[in-house]
Amino acid sequence: MLYDDFYIKSLIKTVEDWPKPGISFRDITPIFSDPKGMRMVVDAYVHRYIASDISHIACIDARGFLIAAVLAYELQKPLILIRKKGKLPGKTISQKYALEYGEAELEIQEGSVKAGDEVLLFDDLIATGGTLLAAIELLTEQGANIKEVAAIIDLPDLGGSQKLRDNNISVFGLCAYA
Ligand code: PRP
Ligand code: ADE
Repeated sequence: MLYDDFYIKSLIKTVEDWPKPGISFRDITPIFSDPKGMRMVVDAYVHRYIASDISHIACIDARGFLIAAVLAYELQKPLILIRKKGKLPGKTISQKYALEYGEAELEIQEGSVKAGDEVLLFDDLIATGGTLLAAIELLTEQGANIKEVAAIIDLPDLGGSQKLRDNNISVFGLCAYA
């Protein structure tokens, strides 16, 4: 299904002053309850990555999981979960970070990627880039290469996508709110 930016933006709702005063929260929940929107978003990524040489898809807890899981299924690639602290069993590596409206810590299971892996890293939204930079640290620490970072929404005014590009990370955002 051909990607239609106007249609996808008509689904995304903006909630002012949530979860904190001053934040314009871009709510992607309605995309998931709209089969046409969901298919349009997934198809856009399938089209972009079907012929690429990515070996793994990594995704970030929790909203990042939703599209990435479908994409991994479609592209038949291993899916790596990067989770909020305390959710993954076994040996983990963790990284603290700041995001637009708080602080948190991400974890990955040790050995889930290795040198030579070409990873597509997926999250739903790029704001300050703090979350993605922490996830990149967890993946590259284990030797993986970040082939590209993909997100549904980019908020360029918050500087995250530029920060990623400044770190030589390729970034693909489906739509932007400036
Ligand atoms: C949200 C969003 C991104 C992050 C982006 O995550 O899903 O991961 O913020 O912000 P940043 O670019 O400033 O780091 P949140 O921690 O709210 O998690 P959720 O997916 O569990 O709702
Ligand atoms: N994560 C960080 N900033 C966000 C925003 N403005 N809307 C939705 N998710 C976010």
